[in-house]
Amino acid sequence: MSIFVCSKCDAQFPKWLGQCSQCGAWGTIMEKGEESTEIKNFNNQVIDFNQINQEKFFKIKTGLNEVDRVLGGGIVFESLILLGGQPGIGKSTLVLQIADKSANHPVFYVSGEESAQQVKTRMDRLNISSNNWKFLGESDINVIIASLKRFKPKVIIIDSIQTMVFPEIASEAGNINQVRACTSKLREIAQELKAVVFIIGHVTKEGVMAGPKTLEHLVDIVLYLEGDPSHRFRFLRAGKNRFGSTNEVGVFDMGQTGLMEVVNPSEIFLANRNAEISGSVVVPVVEGSRSFLVEVQALVSRTSFGYPQRKSTGFDLNRLGLLIAVLIKRCNFNLANQDIHINIVGGLQVREPAVDLGVGLAIASAFKNSPINPEIAVFGEVGLGGEIRGVKATEKRIKEAFKLGFKKIISPVGDFAETKIIQVKNLNEAIAQLC
Ligand code: TYD
Ligand code: MG
Repeated sequence: MSIFVCSKCDAQFPKWLGQCSQCGAWGTIMEKGEESTEIKNFNNQVIDFNQINQEKFFKIKTGLNEVDRVLGGGIVFESLILLGGQPGIGKSTLVLQIADKSANHPVFYVSGEESAQQVKTRMDRLNISSNNWKFLGESDINVIIASLKRFKPKVIIIDSIQTMVFPEIASEAGNINQVRACTSKLREIAQELKAVVFIIGHVTKEGVMAGPKTLEHLVDIVLYLEGDPSHRFRFLRAGKNRFGSTNEVGVFDMGQTGLMEVVNPSEIFLANRNAEISGSVVVPVVEGSRSFLVEVQALVSRTSFGYPQRKSTGFDLNRLGLLIAVLIKRCNFNLANQDIHINIVGGLQVREPAVDLGVGLAIASAFKNSPINPEIAVFGEVGLGGEIRGVKATEKRIKEAFKLGFKKIISPVGDFAETKIIQVKNLNEAIAQLC
C-alpha cells in the first residue's frame, strides 16, 4: 500500500488530498512508494565495538591552524562540512584556501552562483595554483553527481546549497525539500568517493541558515564564519562537530590576498586602543583552548528624546539590560535617562559571562567620565545582587593579561597570593578600585 506525504510538513495520509489538513498548504501532497515492512538480514547491521577501525577517522590537516583547531584536528574524509555565513563574509574565499592547503587531493568546485572566470579570478588573487582543480557551473544535482562519479575528486565544494536543485522535486531551489534531497545525494557521493564535501550555505540577517535549518542534522560539521563584512576580522566557529569539540574559535584577518590567520589575536585587537578615554577596559576572554584580550567600550550619554537607547555590538543585549539594572539597583547609578552603547572592539561576539565585569565597569567609567587605568585588565561574572562570581579558566586569563604587559588584574575572589591580582566581591568594590 502506498502512502501520501505532504512535502511541506511531512504529514502522512492514506489518500491524496488537494490541501494538507495538517499545515494547510495546497498542492504539496505526493504519493510515496510502498514501504517494506519486512526486515531482512538485520544481523548484518549489528557491529561489535571491538571491530571498529579507528583509522577511519584519520584527520588530514588543512595546513591552516585556525581551521584545524576549529575542526578538531583536521578534515575527515567521507564527511560533509557545512559552512554558513552571511553573503560577502568570505565563505567562498575560505573554502578555496582550505582546499588549496589540503595538499595534493583533486578538488572539484561546483558553483551555482559564479562563473568559472569569477572563481578563477579569486583563485589568482589568493595565489592558488589551479593544477588538480576542476570547475563545474551547474545547479542540477543529478548532473553534478554524474560529473563527480566520473572525475572522482577527493575535495568537493558546493557553492552554495541554496542554488542546487533536484529536478524530481517540484519546488524552488533553496526550499527545504530541495536542500534536504541535494544534501542526501551529496552524502552518498561523499561515501562512495571517500571524499570531503564542503557545502556553503547562506545565513540570513537573523543568523539562521536561510530555509534549511534542517540541513544541520544532515551534515557532520557545521561551521559559521562570523564578523562584520565591513570590518577586517572574521571568526570561525563550529556549531556542531561529530569529530571534535564546538567551543574553539578561529580568528582571521581579511586582506588583499584572502584570509590571513591571526596567531596572536590579543595584540591585533588592542593595536589601536586609545586607553585615555573613559568607558574602555580590557577583558581576557576564553574561547576553547585559548585566551585572548578584547577591549570593551561603553558610551553613556543623556537621552535627548523618548526612551533611553540600549545598543550593543558583540555583547548580548539582554545581558546588557541586566547589567544596567544591577548598576541602577545595587550601585546607585542613575542610568534611567541615559543612552548606553556597548562595543566589543574587533567584531568578536563574546558569549561568556566573564565579560560582565568589563561591561559593568566600562559603563561606570563612561557615566562618571573617569578613565580606567590602562594597565588593568578585568574579568568576572556579575550576579543579580551585584556579586562577582568566579569563571572558568582563570589561570589562562591571568597568564594572557600579564603576558601582554598588563600590570594589574581585577578578578573574582580566588586563591591568589599574587598582589597584582585584586580580588573583588561585588561590583561596588570593583568600581571603587577603578573609576
Ligand atoms: P567571498 O568569499 O566572495 O564571500 P561569500 O562567499 O561569503 O559571499 O568574499 C567576500 C568579500 O571578501 C568580497 O567582497 C571581497 C573580499 N575579499 C578580500 O577582501 N580579499 C580577498 O582576497 C578576497 C578573495 C575577497
Ligand atoms: Mg560566495
